Amino acid sequence: MSGTGRPQPSCRTYPVLSPLPAVGGNEGVGEVLEVGHRVTTLKPGDWVIPANAGLGTWRTQGVFPEEMLLKVPSDIPVLCAATLSVNPCTAFRLLADFESLVPGDSVIQNAANSGVGQAVIQIAKASGIKTINVVRDRPDLPKLMERLMTLGADHIITEEMLRKPEMKDIFKSIPKPRLALNCVGGKSTTEMLRHLQPKGTMVTYGGMAKQPVMVPVSAFIFRDVRLRGFWMTQWRKDHAQDQESVAAMMDALCQLIRRGQLTAPACTEVPLQDYRAALEASMKPFVSSKQILLL
Ligand SMILES: NC(=O)c1ccc[n+]([C@@H]2O[C@H](COP(=O)([O-])OP(=O)(O)OC[C@H]3O[C@@H](n4cnc5c(N)ncnc54)[C@H](OP(=O)(O)O)[C@@H]3O)[C@@H](O)[C@H]2O)c1
Repeated sequence: MSGTGRPQPSCRTYPVLSPLPAVGGNEGVGEVLEVGHRVTTLKPGDWVIPANAGLGTWRTQGVFPEEMLLKVPSDIPVLCAATLSVNPCTAFRLLADFESLVPGDSVIQNAANSGVGQAVIQIAKASGIKTINVVRDRPDLPKLMERLMTLGADHIITEEMLRKPEMKDIFKSIPKPRLALNCVGGKSTTEMLRHLQPKGTMVTYGGMAKQPVMVPVSAFIFRDVRLRGFWMTQWRKDHAQDQESVAAMMDALCQLIRRGQLTAPACTEVPLQDYRAALEASMKPFVSSKQILLL
C-alpha cells in the first residue's frame, strides 16, 4: 500500500479526527489479499482505495468492511490510483457541481500548482474549458509555468499580477470566468474575485493562507457574486446511497487517466522509514511535489 503524506490540518479547524490511537493517512492504494465468504464486490488481486476519509492508509495491512473500500482498475498507474480518492475527485466536483460550464468558458483558480489545482487544469482542458491559474511568485517561476502549461494551463499569473491592468489582455481572448476556485483566502481571494463575471460563483475549498475570505460589498451589490464552499468528505457522506454518482465520477476520472489526460501530481516517493523528511517537505512552501510514502 502507498499513501500520500500530507498531515491533516489542525484539530481546531478540521472536523474529522479519528479517535486516538489512530493510523494516519487519508489517501492511498492497496491490493486485496483475502476476502470473507460474504464479500461480493471485491476479490483477491483487486486494487482498492478508501471510500471515505479517515481510513488510515499509513499501514502495510488492514482488515476492513467492503463498503469502506472502493475498487479501482489495476490498469492505471499506481501513483494515479494512490492519489485518486481526494484531489481529482474534488477537482471533478468543483468543475461539475456549481456552474454549468460549456467549452470555451473559463475558470480562475489560486494555488493552481496544488494537487487539486493540477487536476482542475487537466480536467478543464479535457472539457474545452479555459483556465486562468494563479500561483505565488518564486525563484523558479518559469519552470513551474512550463510544467503547468504542459498539463494544459491556458494562462498562468502570479498573485501580484491579479492587481495589474494587464489582466485585461487575458480577457481579449477568453471570457471572464463564471467560476473561481479558492484554496487560499485573504488578499489572493479578494483580488481573484474582482475578475469573476457578474452572477459568477466562487467556491472555497481550502484556506492555505489561514486568512478569512474578504469580499467587497460592491461585489455583492453590483455584481451579485455567489460564494459557496465545498468539502469532498461531506459530498461522499451525502452520496453514500447514490453509488451511481460515485461510479460515474470514478469512471470519468479513470477514462481521463487511461487517455493520458489526467496524470498523477508531481510526486516525491519516500520510503516509510523516512516519513519525518516527507512530513517536513510537505509543510515547506514552493515544494510543488506530493510526498508519497512507499509502504
Ligand atoms: N475541501 C475539500 O474537499 C478539499 C479536498 C482536497 C484538498 N483540500 C484542501 O486544499 C488545499 C490544497 O490541497 P492539496 O492537496 O491540493 O495541496 P498541495 O498539493 O500540498 O498544495 C498546497 C498549495 O497551497 C499553496 N500555498 C501554501 N501556502 C500558501 C499561502 N500562504 N498562500 C498561497 N498559497 C499557498 C502552495 O503553493 P506554493 O507552491 O506557492 O507553496 C500549493 O499550491 C489544502 O488546504 C487541502 O486541505 C480540500
